[in-house]
Amino acid sequence: MTISEPSRESVSQAKQRCIEPKCGASYGLNERVYVCKSCGSLLDLELNVEQAFDANSLRSLWRERLQSLEPRDRSGVWRYRELLPFANDAPIVSLNEGNTPLYDAPRCADYCALDSLLLKHQGCNPTGSFKDTGMTTAVTQARILGVRLLVCASTGNTSASLAAYAARAGLLCAIMVPEGQVSHAKLAQSLDYGAKVLEIEGNFDACMRAMRELAEDESIYLVNSINPFRIEGQKTVAAELAEQLNWQMPDHLVVPGGNLGNSSAFGKGLHELYQLGLIDRMPCITIVQAVGAAPLASLFLQHEQDLMVEDPTFDIVNLDQPHTLASAIKIGAPVSWKKAWRALRWTSGRVLTVSEQEIADAKAIIGRDAIGCEPDSATTVAGIKKLVAAGTIKDDEKVVAVLTGHLLKDTDYVINYHSQKLSMSWESGAGNVNQIVGHFSNQPVRVEASQKAIRQVLEHMQNEQEPHINPA
Ligand code: F0G
Repeated sequence: MTISEPSRESVSQAKQRCIEPKCGASYGLNERVYVCKSCGSLLDLELNVEQAFDANSLRSLWRERLQSLEPRDRSGVWRYRELLPFANDAPIVSLNEGNTPLYDAPRCADYCALDSLLLKHQGCNPTGSFKDTGMTTAVTQARILGVRLLVCASTGNTSASLAAYAARAGLLCAIMVPEGQVSHAKLAQSLDYGAKVLEIEGNFDACMRAMRELAEDESIYLVNSINPFRIEGQKTVAAELAEQLNWQMPDHLVVPGGNLGNSSAFGKGLHELYQLGLIDRMPCITIVQAVGAAPLASLFLQHEQDLMVEDPTFDIVNLDQPHTLASAIKIGAPVSWKKAWRALRWTSGRVLTVSEQEIADAKAIIGRDAIGCEPDSATTVAGIKKLVAAGTIKDDEKVVAVLTGHLLKDTDYVINYHSQKLSMSWESGAGNVNQIVGHFSNQPVRVEASQKAIRQVLEHMQNEQEPHINPA
């Protein structure tokens, strides 16, 4: 089935614009800039969607495309292309990203003391994380610009995603990761997809700083989430989620926070859907950070009362030595904090922290719902549990948590948790060790290879009680 492609004159007028209201400098759509040349702040892509696309016609166009076999329509990002600053004939680089499930999670709901809880599993993307939804647009833009070499700094997922999309596009890529701090699975992906892997002595923030300096070079294209074309792809998850919920927004949307591109993208996506009349209210965005890597949560604690100020004058205080076992969000200097702050303002949102123990237990419960995720993603369920206990989220409110990465991204963490060996050490004056208890651990059993011994275990198993969801 072929659906006629609506014309999109607005793309030729799309611009990149500085997010600072005081500055507002604009740049051409295909100008190679990452930050505002005038004030150094972040850039947004600005596209005024054609008047002809009213909410109902967009809804039915997108619904129709679900039955189309055209490659663009099979992608859960490009299906919503009316929201994207790309012409209809753009040379799209896609791996059928998006289209991720929205699961009902009854055990997690019980754990959080909620009536129900939905989990949007972005770990079901082609390389196992939400990064693919932004990489498809950033690498497509790289093709339009005619660049040959793509680079990023990463805690592992951005790099795995870039490596895959660069390979698909036939472009070169080099990734910079903190040595010894990236899970084997993520490193394995980047190697297999053919990326040049540069292991840097230092943490993610050091890699990011080095990359930003390098990106001044015209022959290199940086695709971290500072690049606004990444955010454009990532924002389409808001449309996909709204469509899955029949355009009825939940009360709360809960996301993990690291470099803060994901929360920024949700903010922009929801804001645009609201302006187009596709949704009639904004969910409250909650960003959850690990307690040892929580610069945005500290800022929120200090400046919550200034959230509604359009042009805040304060700055985030970066952390030199962030620490958490949730390695994807071990970030002390989040590049996109201003856009994330704006997302909080648009949605009357909040930020909170959770401990390593809370993350680990929440992750195990997500597993019990047959879903599973990376530790970073589990900050969401841990955060929801805290907010319900505090009465901030009511037990009958509609809540969606976003899981950002797949369970198999970090299996060492899982095995260590289930065998009671999960611990974290970090330097803080005298040094610290945090031993995590596997409250929901599920240890392997050693059994003799005889029928009798195996039967005994199986019988015992059938008499066992369901594990309690709430640890003592
Ligand atoms: N969850 C996962 C699985 C991630 O990989 C990341 C970030 C986040 C959450 C946080 O998202 O940075 O947009 O706030 N990973 C980056 C990387 C930093 O390099 O893969 P954010």
